Amino acid sequence: MSEAILLVGGQGTRLRPLTSHIPKPLLPVAGVPFLTHQLARAAAAGVTRVILATSYLAELFEAEYGNGARLGLELEYVTEESALGTGGAIRNAARRLRSAPSDPVLVLNGDILSGVDIAALRAHHRLTGADVTLQLKRVGDPRAFGLVPTDEGGRVTAFLEKPQTPEEIITDQINAGCYVFTRSVIDRIPPDRVVSVERETFPELLATDAQVRGVVDDTYWLDLGTPAAFVQGSADLVRGRVTSPALPGPPGDALVLPGARVHPAAVLSGGTVVSPGAVIEEGAVVEGSVVMTGAHIAPGATVHASAVGRHAQVGPGTSLEATVVGDGAHVEEGNELPPGVRIACGARMAPYSVRLSAAPTPCATEHTAVRPTSGARGTARPATTA
Ligand code: GDD
Ligand code: MG
Repeated sequence: MSEAILLVGGQGTRLRPLTSHIPKPLLPVAGVPFLTHQLARAAAAGVTRVILATSYLAELFEAEYGNGARLGLELEYVTEESALGTGGAIRNAARRLRSAPSDPVLVLNGDILSGVDIAALRAHHRLTGADVTLQLKRVGDPRAFGLVPTDEGGRVTAFLEKPQTPEEIITDQINAGCYVFTRSVIDRIPPDRVVSVERETFPELLATDAQVRGVVDDTYWLDLGTPAAFVQGSADLVRGRVTSPALPGPPGDALVLPGARVHPAAVLSGGTVVSPGAVIEEGAVVEGSVVMTGAHIAPGATVHASAVGRHAQVGPGTSLEATVVGDGAHVEEGNELPPGVRIACGARMAPYSVRLSAAPTPCATEHTAVRPTSGARGTARPATTA
C-alpha cells in the first residue's frame, strides 16, 4: 500500500469569485476538476489510498469522487470543523492512515500542476533515509512562496515562508508543495490545533536536526492559486505543455467538450476549453481561456486569457482580457474590459458600460451602471458610460 494526503481545504481567496461556490481543487482545468489531474498522477505513480483533507465546501469532494473507484484509488475524506492550517490538516488526516511508522507518506498541496516524478521522489526519500523530502523548484520571483535553501548534499538548511524583505530572499529555490514524510514525523505534529507546516513544522524539524532533504525538479510547475495561473494551467494542459493521465482527449489548440456548441465561424485557440452546455457564437474569438458549463459567448465577442464562470454571458462585441466572470454574471454588449477585472457572480454589466476606446454612440441621457450583487474585492464598480 502506498498512501497520500491531499490538502484541499483552502478557501481559494485569490480566485474569487470563481471559488465562491466551487473549491479551488474542483474548478475545471482542461475539462475535468483540477484535483482529478493530481489524483490520476498519484495513481499512475503507484499511490493506492488517498486521504483528502477538506474544510471549505467539504461536502462537494465526496459528491465528486465517492469512494475513488473510478480513479482506481481508495479515497477517504477527513473534514476539519474549522480550518487547521496545512500542518494541522496533515496531522488530522493522518488519523486515517494505515501506513507503518517508518513508511513514506506522500503529501500534496491541492493546487499544484506539475510534471514531478512522484515515484522517483519517494525512491529518493527511502534511499537517503530522510525524515521529510521536499520537491523544490527554482523560480525567478520567489516572494509568494516558501524559500528552501539546501546545502551541497541536498539537506535543507532553512525554511522561510513568504519572505517580507529583500534581505530575506536568500535563494531561488521554493517549496513546490509536494512532500514525502516518514509517517512517524507526521504523528509528532501537535494534534487538534492550527499548525502551519511551512511556518512551524519545517522550521522546528530543522532546529531539532531532523533530516529534511530537498530535490530540485525542473519539470513543469505551476501553482494555480491566481486567475492568471488558473487559465494558464488549463491552457498548458490542453496544448500538451504538461501531461496528465486525466486529460480528456489528445493535446491540441482547443478542447471542446461533449455538449458544447461552437459556431464554425468562431475562432478558438491557445488551449481554450469550452465546457458542456457552453455556446460560442459566430465570429467570437476565444484564446487561452476557460469557458465553463452553460456559459454563452455572443457573436463577435473577444475573450483572451479569461475565465468565464458557469452560465455567465458575454455580450456581442464585448472584449475581455485576463478577466474573471463570476457564475451567472452578464457582461452585456460592447464592453471593453481592461486586464484584471473580476465580475461578481450574478452581476449585470449594462451595454457599453466600460470602454477603452470611444463608444460607438454618444452618451445616452439615461445613466447606465454596473450593479454587482456582492462587493468582492476587484469587482467592477458602478461606472458611467465612457
Ligand atoms: N485541509 C486544509 N486545511 N487545507 C488547507 C488549509 C487548511 O486549513 N489551508 C490551506 N490548505 C490547502 C490549500 O487548499 C492548498 O491546496 C494548500 O493547502 C496550500 O495552500 P495555499 O493557500 O495554496 O498556499 P500558498 O500557495 O500560498 O503557499 C503554499 O504553496 C506554495 C507552493 O505553491 C506553501 O506551501 C508554500 O510554502 C509553497 O511555496
Ligand atoms: Mg497555492
